Amino acid sequence: MTTSTFLANQRLPIHRWFRYSAGFSGAWAEAVIRERTSAHHTILDPFAGVATTLVAAQLAGRHALGVEAHPFVARIARAKLTPCDPDALERAAQSVLAHAESLPREAACDDEPELLRASYSPDALADLRRLHRAIEAQGEHPLLWLALVAILRACSSAGTAPWQYVLPNRRKARVAMPFVRFPMQTALMSADLCAGRTSAVLHHDDARTCASIADASVDLVLTSPPYPNNYDYADATRLEQTFFGDVREWRDLHTTTRRHLVRACSQHTAADRLALGDLLADPHVAPIRDALTGVCEALAAIRASKPGKKTYHTMIAAYFVDLARVWQALARVVRPGGEVCFVIGDSAPYGVHVPVDDWLARLADAAGFTPTRTREIRARNVKWKNRKHRVPLRELELWLTRRR
Ligand SMILES: C[S@@+](CC[C@H](N)C(=O)[O-])C[C@H]1O[C@@H](n2cnc3c(N)ncnc32)[C@H](O)[C@@H]1O
Repeated sequence: MTTSTFLANQRLPIHRWFRYSAGFSGAWAEAVIRERTSAHHTILDPFAGVATTLVAAQLAGRHALGVEAHPFVARIARAKLTPCDPDALERAAQSVLAHAESLPREAACDDEPELLRASYSPDALADLRRLHRAIEAQGEHPLLWLALVAILRACSSAGTAPWQYVLPNRRKARVAMPFVRFPMQTALMSADLCAGRTSAVLHHDDARTCASIADASVDLVLTSPPYPNNYDYADATRLEQTFFGDVREWRDLHTTTRRHLVRACSQHTAADRLALGDLLADPHVAPIRDALTGVCEALAAIRASKPGKKTYHTMIAAYFVDLARVWQALARVVRPGGEVCFVIGDSAPYGVHVPVDDWLARLADAAGFTPTRTREIRARNVKWKNRKHRVPLRELELWLTRRR
């Protein structure tokens, strides 16, 4: 069973409500939870994303907790966990649609952000705005809000890259119409709603502290943290956040979103202007300091010769400072004997290999976890003709036990 890709989730109830390419497989998560835990156990995902682990735990009849720092993604996750009667959702959706159709179709205004004007026809944008106003008028039910979020990309004429970024200069062949797509989405959601889901709580919080999670309360951590591979989670939902007015321009993403996240992309460390020496002196990275210093100094040297001057050297150092803090937080919340599974990938910025799994295992060991096994999931960076370097990469499950 494939662990790491969200693709199969497109066919799974509830998981299929919102496509998050950073997500992992719900079927795999559910199988692991069933195999490794029983009904009285609590499962935590400290990087919950769109709540794949939490939904999987619910479907397996377990109690689940999640932590997610990205405000928009956390709202999606919470919406997915909202209990609702399917008939009530259908009725509310029909009434929203009727209300939206009765609203005047206002001309798309020049004041709309440029990204939206480039991504939608004026009619599609006007209809999406009518749907939004009708949902707001009904008290913004989380599932109706999510249905609107979920159709935004299908109704956009702009292309989307495999990694979810929006490419307004690439046009799509098939573009959905908002008043057709919205009822299709709510019908799909109603069909998936089932009674008797176990409780699951999503905290908008920071995995580096897990402040909202009680001491020794967790039996299994099942998660996938950001990889230090320069993927910008803030940018991943830019279209949606722009539609809802959370951001207007690309630069707003840092203050609203990116600065709350683990530092795993160079845009983050560039904006924060970090000093490499300070990061390497941080006591959290003491267990890997020598090896980390070698890699970061190599990156700093290569950077000097590159036109883009990407801040990979501070990105890698800051990433491990942050992940070391995550291990300390997890050591507090996982009960002795409890298990952790991290789905993780290594990386090679500027072609310099960073042994992410090995360093994470060493940081975890220092925090009180014993690494028990790894399982390779897939090889990465082997297919693309235009890849930037030839370093073979892999993705794996890293399993550990909290020492007693
Ligand atoms: C690889 S994704 C996990 C996706 C998840 N497994 C799913 O299926 O949706 C990593 C997630 O960690 C979140 N994240 C980044 N920094 C965080 C932090 N400091 N605390 C909690 N979540 C964080 C990102 O916003 C992203 O949603």
